[in-house]
Amino acid sequence: MRRKHLVAIVVVIFLTWNFLMYYMLVSKNPGKLGSISVEDQLKILQGDIRHQLSHNSELLQHLRKFREQKLSEELDRKIHQTTTPVPYDANRFILPILLIACDRTTVSRSLDLLIKYRPNKNKFPIIVSQDCGHKPTADVIQRYVMEHDIKHIKHPNISDIHLPWPQKKFQGYYKLSRHYRWALNQVFHTFNHSAVVIVEDDLDISPDFYEYFSATFPILHQDPSLWCVSAWNDNGKLDMVSDDAELLYRSDFFPGLGWMMEKSTWLEIGPKWPDAFWDDWMRHPDQRRGRACIRPEICRTSTFGKKGVSKGLFYEKHLKFIKLNSKFVPFTQKDLSYLLKDKYDTYFTKLVKDTPEVTVAEAMSGHRSNMKALKILYSTKDEYKSTAKKLGIMDDFKAGVPRVAYNGVVSFMYRGQRIYLSPPPGWKGYNIKWS
Ligand SMILES: *[C@@H]1O[C@H](CO)[C@@H](O)[C@H](O)[C@H]1NC(C)=O
Ligand SMILES: *[C@@H]1O[C@H](CO)[C@@H](O)[C@H](O)[C@H]1NC(C)=O
Repeated sequence: MRRKHLVAIVVVIFLTWNFLMYYMLVSKNPGKLGSISVEDQLKILQGDIRHQLSHNSELLQHLRKFREQKLSEELDRKIHQTTTPVPYDANRFILPILLIACDRTTVSRSLDLLIKYRPNKNKFPIIVSQDCGHKPTADVIQRYVMEHDIKHIKHPNISDIHLPWPQKKFQGYYKLSRHYRWALNQVFHTFNHSAVVIVEDDLDISPDFYEYFSATFPILHQDPSLWCVSAWNDNGKLDMVSDDAELLYRSDFFPGLGWMMEKSTWLEIGPKWPDAFWDDWMRHPDQRRGRACIRPEICRTSTFGKKGVSKGLFYEKHLKFIKLNSKFVPFTQKDLSYLLKDKYDTYFTKLVKDTPEVTVAEAMSGHRSNMKALKILYSTKDEYKSTAKKLGIMDDFKAGVPRVAYNGVVSFMYRGQRIYLSPPPGWKGYNIKWS
């Protein structure tokens, strides 16, 4: 009897347990058990897939970031390496001039000088790339094609660029950037050139324009810490430069306005070329990567057009006072290796270090006019701006770099005296927040 009783209890417990388990499962997961509609199943499946997709895209993003970082590190290594790059054959080297044109018939003025000073048309082919589809300008350029064997290419896409309202007024900058991308792709990919000098349709050039770029090319090619040679000095006004037409510098500030780059640089920046404001984009550390340009004391270009995309007011205030070099300097017969980073840094640092330091008031008083050069220190953005204003040089920054600065030092002439506007010793680099 006792045994039977026990068995009955066990059976009851077992049944109860089963019943409870069933009840719990069904009430907790009403969708998983019992009747679940096809629609619900689809929803669940969709959710799962969406989840998987977002997971995958995250993974992809991580991978992309990783690849970019790797490429970026590789690039940094390249820039800071010291091995010499592949030598090139100077006699067979071709340096095309790319002239960016649009709707100004005065492009003839630029072309006349480019042709007048060109020592060799095979070595320096001129390519005019025209945007805007302006017929009168096209006719002018066509004349040069017949008479001087230049190349005239036309940007195929002259459509307006759709922009939301606040950016509408920048249409011109967007078109310019689009045109640059196309034209540079033509130069490097269609025509397969290995370097280019870029000018715009409102530039005059100096008699030694070609000489300057020919002589600096080997330096640019040899020194991975350089990424451009420019014809421009942002503080190149008549009373702010010396008479020394031979004088060249390194500059952390990308000057533009008549500049040379190699194909390798285009392969690097071309694929991520921006939709607008390409020059400021190039000045950003993401592109510049600590690299410098060569620039002259006295400009090898000057602009005559005030009707540019950006140049109206700027022209009246600055550009029209720029001194264009008129002497021919035989640069190719000179040793320019002092512009290579190691040599230059040693020389330039010592030069600035050994220059007597004065206050801006002292410099302006003329009491030290017997000295060849003076140094004025700045530690803050406001200090820089106020000093620059007093002495009449450009006072703005791009990505934290003052115009023409090298290692923070800005060199210019003030009333016949060389001034170095310099950060104090122990300088830690540019502050991108200075603007
Ligand atoms: C022309 O440029 C616009 C804007 O940059 C672009 O959306 C469009 O696809 C281009 N058209 C062609 C044919 O390349
Ligand atoms: C482009 O030029 C390089 C040398 O600069 C040469 O090695 C290459 O074969 C050329 N490519 C084409 C398609 O002509």
